[in-house]
Amino acid sequence: MLTQRLRTLLLAEAKKHESFYFYDEQTLVESIHHLQQAFPHEQILYSIKCNPHRAILKTIFSSDIDADAASLGEVYAASDCGVPSDHIYYSAPGKSDYCLEKALGQCILIADSLNEIRRINALAATKNMKVPIGVRINPNFSYTDKKGHSSKFGIDEDAFFSALPELKKLSHILIIGVHTHLRSQELNWNTLCSYYKNVFSLASLIQEKLDSPLCFLNLGSGIGIPYCQDETDCDIESLGQELEKLRVIYEDTFSQARILIESGRYLAGPCGWYVTHIIDTKESHGSHIAIAANTLNGFLRPCLEHLVTSISETAPAREPLFYRTGSTPFYVLNDTQEMEKVTIYGNLCTAADIIASDVLLPKLSPGDVLAFPHAGAYSAVLTPFQFSSQVPPEILFLTASKP
Ligand SMILES: Cc1ncc(COP(=O)(O)O)c(C=O)c1O
Repeated sequence: MLTQRLRTLLLAEAKKHESFYFYDEQTLVESIHHLQQAFPHEQILYSIKCNPHRAILKTIFSSDIDADAASLGEVYAASDCGVPSDHIYYSAPGKSDYCLEKALGQCILIADSLNEIRRINALAATKNMKVPIGVRINPNFSYTDKKGHSSKFGIDEDAFFSALPELKKLSHILIIGVHTHLRSQELNWNTLCSYYKNVFSLASLIQEKLDSPLCFLNLGSGIGIPYCQDETDCDIESLGQELEKLRVIYEDTFSQARILIESGRYLAGPCGWYVTHIIDTKESHGSHIAIAANTLNGFLRPCLEHLVTSISETAPAREPLFYRTGSTPFYVLNDTQEMEKVTIYGNLCTAADIIASDVLLPKLSPGDVLAFPHAGAYSAVLTPFQFSSQVPPEILFLTASKP
């Protein structure tokens, strides 16, 4: 939400920069507290991929949050911020031998395939190590039905159980954790809760068949943020209360396991704004046109949304690139009362650089400022800043004043 405080801050920075990201630590800290209060018995992980800005990592990792790393680089980034190796979980498909070797001992490896388990075992053998690992499972259920779906992520549940006799004989690995993640950006807490129930039940079966206690159960991510005007917050208080009931039911079963919840966008998304300027306006064949600085090559998501929804209004989400129609709203920070239908393009030499067609807005003039909320996650990281060799947006971080 654009508070008066933020409006003033953004306009002040807009006098100095043509386009910029603005990360507000105060908002970030509020999101952290909110999530931790809702899940007091669970350990929150931060999914670094959504925004690895150093100041964001420092704030998050100094708040008792562990790391969800999706690459060797993210393992190093967490480590540099002081996260201990047994609090960094490295989960990604297709980890190369180089990445596995470098990551060994620097984090908890989450194996994404049966081949990967065997490769980790072989690598550990060369170093005479016994490596505790997690396994990412592709379960026989989804958010919406009770059957499995083909996925590039994880090991199919049935394949895992079939391979267990072999896996138990591998002498250089020990399976100590289970990880699942099926989708992001879910706002219905009931849906998330049913998913959690299924994961607990699956994990208890895995533990039984392993004959050894799990040390962690990673429920993955999923908690969304309301991008669109017709959406409301996911009720994480209710979700936390239901999860607590589940945790108590399984307390004896998982007496040695930490319950982990991943989050990227919930933590970092709301703290970020993307701000740019209108550079020019013109009329063309009866249409009002405004040209803004750094759109496609400053903040990709609005352009992608325009592209996808211009092809199909009902295209399914493809996070983190595209969510749905109306998910990249913006504010015009001028005081104009006059309204006008306008099409907003960016200033790249491609007609695909467009963020809005024929939308009714306060009449735009050169120098006007556009401010996009929810730009703290999957925003700067996804954007091709190098395209067209323009000056990229600045990235600003406003440190919260300490009480
Ligand atoms: C395994 C895993 N964990 C966590 C996340 C972060 O999800 P989000 O930023 O939607 O919370 C993702 C996102 O794709 C993911 O694939």
